[in-house]
Amino acid sequence: MATQELGQQPAIAGLESGDLGAASWVDEIPDAHRRPLRRWMWVGAGLTASTLVVGGITRLTESGLSIVDWAPIVGSIPPLNDADWQEAFARYQQYPEYVKIRPDMTLSEFKQIYFWEYLHRMLGRLIGVAFLIPFILFWIRGYLTGPMFRRVGLLFALGGLQGLMGWYMVSSGLVDRPDVSQYRLAAHLLLAITIFGCCLWFGNDLLDRQRLQLSAASRTFMTRALVVVGALLMIQIFWGALVAGLNAGFILNTFPLMNGSLLPPQGWSHDPVLINLFENLATVQWMHRLLATVLLLSGIALLLIIRRNPSLATFQRWGALLAGMIAVQYGLGILTLLSHVRIGLGVAHQLVALAIVGVLLTFLHQIRRSTPEPIVRASSPRHS
Ligand code: HEM
Repeated sequence: MATQELGQQPAIAGLESGDLGAASWVDEIPDAHRRPLRRWMWVGAGLTASTLVVGGITRLTESGLSIVDWAPIVGSIPPLNDADWQEAFARYQQYPEYVKIRPDMTLSEFKQIYFWEYLHRMLGRLIGVAFLIPFILFWIRGYLTGPMFRRVGLLFALGGLQGLMGWYMVSSGLVDRPDVSQYRLAAHLLLAITIFGCCLWFGNDLLDRQRLQLSAASRTFMTRALVVVGALLMIQIFWGALVAGLNAGFILNTFPLMNGSLLPPQGWSHDPVLINLFENLATVQWMHRLLATVLLLSGIALLLIIRRNPSLATFQRWGALLAGMIAVQYGLGILTLLSHVRIGLGVAHQLVALAIVGVLLTFLHQIRRSTPEPIVRASSPRHS
């Protein structure tokens, strides 16, 4: 890769330090402080990804409504003896999921579903602790400069919101229809991905990686292209969450046709017609297929543009990785559908979505912190 150290760059007229993305504020952080701060962010991203996986298992094993109250501190203590278990089970039995769907459930079956929801909530709490304790220590030691402080403040705000959102989602399943709202599930998933993305971005800010040297045109093009692919990816993830939230992956388990047609059967039967895109199971699944195809084509198009343009040669590997991962995810989605959502496949499909977000953000970050190529002016012809 054609790279050069920022420190070796000649000063370029008209370029303020803010133009270099993270350069200005990160350079003020001593090297010895950067590494622990960076690790802190990586741990945050890793824990968020783990919580997301366990959240996926919780949903797919239909365990998410087993703990029917929200007690952020006291709730850390699980049932410890028979009497506690009987009490937790009795509380669960008062809610529609037990009454309408699982009236035959035994205590040992209840313990299994309780396990996943409990683990999911405990991981959520662990993330809180993994941020709070280092935050206090770094603060006392003076590691947190203003911009870093604001970034961590944002993470705390998002984390708190996610805790509330999780409960808001669970509470939607404790009413008459024992299934959580697909919109709240989507908000919960997108918020988790935002927290993961922020940790990753801030961690990347703190990396002492060599900077790419890019022309202004390449930088602008690549930024725009990745923002477009990223926006498509987030919209696709939103529809994926709708598919998951509505259990729409359990119907029409054929590909590429749906009941022999390219269009969703009875896909426009709800009124008003637009609501079909969000609430009609067949249409929601169809949208997810359609957007997946658009996303895959945009990933391939970006790769082709990179390959054909010598000034973008540096990005060939990144482009191939991004397009390749989208293709893998496409295949995984098909397998998930054909298997009537086998748990392992469903979880892998969710995890690869997160990995694509990670690759795209790291790719974009490299572009945002690139340094401008010095402009080489053609020399005027000499007359001897
Ligand atoms: C290529 C880009 C794709 C992305 C980024 C993507 C992303 C996602 C996401 C984030 C979810 C929600 C997972 C969860 O909350 O647990 C999901 C669910 C789902 N996706 Fe995709 N998907 C893609 C392609 C596909 C394709 C091509 C198919 C099938 C034709 C598919 C089928 C499904 C199914 C059946 C579910 C529901 C799984 C469940 O109930 O857990 N996906 N997708």
